[in-house]
Amino acid sequence: MNDKLVWAKKSTFILAATGSAIGLGNLWKFPYMVGENGGGAFVLVYLVCVLLIGLPVMMSETIVGKYSHGNAIDAIAKTAKRSNASQLWKGTAVMGMVAIFVILSFYSVIAGWALDYTYHFVTGELTGKSVDEVKRFFDTLLADPKRQILWHGLFMFLTAAIIARGAQEGIEKSLGIMMPLLFVLLLAIVGYSMLATGRFNETFEYMFSMDFSKVTPMVVINAMGQAFFSLSLGMCVIMTYAAYMRKDVSITESSLYITALDTVMALLAGLAIFPIVFANDMSAGAGPGLLFVTLSTAFAQMGTVGMILGITFFFLVIIAALSSSISMVEPFVKWFEERFGLSRFATTFTYCLVVWAFGLLSLLSFNIWADVDVLGTGKNPFDLLDFITSSILLPLGGLLISLYVGWAMDKTISREQLFSLNGFFFTLWLVIMRFIVPVLIGLVFLSSILGEEKMTAIINTIID
Ligand code: TRP
Repeated sequence: MNDKLVWAKKSTFILAATGSAIGLGNLWKFPYMVGENGGGAFVLVYLVCVLLIGLPVMMSETIVGKYSHGNAIDAIAKTAKRSNASQLWKGTAVMGMVAIFVILSFYSVIAGWALDYTYHFVTGELTGKSVDEVKRFFDTLLADPKRQILWHGLFMFLTAAIIARGAQEGIEKSLGIMMPLLFVLLLAIVGYSMLATGRFNETFEYMFSMDFSKVTPMVVINAMGQAFFSLSLGMCVIMTYAAYMRKDVSITESSLYITALDTVMALLAGLAIFPIVFANDMSAGAGPGLLFVTLSTAFAQMGTVGMILGITFFFLVIIAALSSSISMVEPFVKWFEERFGLSRFATTFTYCLVVWAFGLLSLLSFNIWADVDVLGTGKNPFDLLDFITSSILLPLGGLLISLYVGWAMDKTISREQLFSLNGFFFTLWLVIMRFIVPVLIGLVFLSSILGEEKMTAIINTIID
């Protein structure tokens, strides 16, 4: 069908992949992980992971997608055929699609919370509330399935409405509006935080002072997992977007831009959030509640300015989440459309409806199923799905892609595709893909299976 369709503009691959990368991972997860993992130490390790692992893997997924111009499964099939490699590698793409189906199902629930917060900042209901009251507000939202089902449904509907219109008309056009808006809004909040709170130095110190004693093996492992999640790697999302890439666009250059923009946005999110948190005498180490309780309380305490900041901030979160959620729907829809020739419109809405329904498993885990123990794992459905995707499927997907591109795929494909890279950097890239990336991801993988305690113990015995 549309397998020769390309982005209308040269810059769209960068725009789309950056849109996929920047999301809740940057605005919600990164800041609280900085808070939980020792500030500057985590930031430094994160930057190393992005450069050493994120960038080369981003290039690899792009190579496969751009070479084949088709959906992720066919992209692997086509490169495997030319390389005389096993067609079983297609399983990587299938697994990726299953994983993003699950990730999207709860990603949308969390994005729904941002919709709810935007609404309640607009109505003024949150303004003036104390920490305890905001906490109660959040708990009430979590305890209310109906309210969440509505917002989760609205978010999935918005996602479907964009994807149904196609790659150029839907994805490309909507991102052309959303991404500039995203940058402007975040810069506005950073500007406010820098100029009005008087806590910029403290934030800078907090985020960038490197205390090496805080770099534990677990910090490294968390940073690596976060780098994969934030850059949307390992799930064939980048591969799918790369299939629409124009021939004359350089993979190396694009990957550098995407990686840099995503990282800058995560750092900016920290620079926007922490000064406001500090200025209101609150702690940065609140974990997942950093946005929905800590930061929201700060906004609530700041009168009209806080109301405007609250609306702006949560609106920003919605745009960022939407530009990511569409990237999680496109791989399946593209494959289904090309494979069975069905209408894009019907495929998209049916798929999104199924994702929405599956999301109810997670949604109900915040209330009526909170204490359900699935198959004796000690986890409720949401915790289990989150664990399986973030801690197992994501690193496993990354591992398979690095083994495929590093070892199984014919390296002349990569050499052709990375035409702008000189011999030295090409060899460096290949060595990183073959040896460094698999070993490091293997470690992340082991640690998530064994758990934090056992893993730390093992690493300590090796180091001693
Ligand atoms: N990267 C996005 C974020 O930071 C989330 C995301 C989009 C994602 N597509 C993905 C994560 C694919 C893993 C895999 O919020």
